[in-house]
Amino acid sequence: MLELNVNGAAHQVDVPTDMPLLWVLRDVLGLTGTKFGCGIAQCGACTVHVDGAPLRSCQLPVGTLGNRAVTTIEAIGATPAGARIQRAWLDHEVVQCGYCQSGQIMSATALLAATPAPDDADIDAAMAGNICRCGTYVRIREAIKAAAATP
Ligand code: FES
Ligand code: FES
Repeated sequence: MLELNVNGAAHQVDVPTDMPLLWVLRDVLGLTGTKFGCGIAQCGACTVHVDGAPLRSCQLPVGTLGNRAVTTIEAIGATPAGARIQRAWLDHEVVQCGYCQSGQIMSATALLAATPAPDDADIDAAMAGNICRCGTYVRIREAIKAAAATP
């Protein structure tokens, strides 16, 4: 039995320690906002925060987490940076099919929290690992800049 700290609450889960965190979030805890894309840490759809850092949950064995704080898309709006990013996403109508967007928002939020006024190079570096098959990259960039300009 493992105890996980997810979205500010403690959860007891009876799973193998090598099970990827993404499986635990979706199939055990019912937090289906985090998506499965490639399963090999290449697309970013499964991005969550672990102690505020964006990580690929599809390749993160749950037994390595210890008591570190996991935050998913379901709770990111409760953080100041997450709330600003989500507002900007709506204002700029970023989403197309939506499948990649949980991961995009998690990466963008981590960027904004660490770098309040990101330039294009900062955005490129932070978002390079998040693939969008719908090609929403231009709107993502606009929304990140708008969020950064929001007090
Ligand atoms: S599903 Fe994890 S990076 Fe693609
Ligand atoms: S919005 Fe469709 S994959 Fe990104």
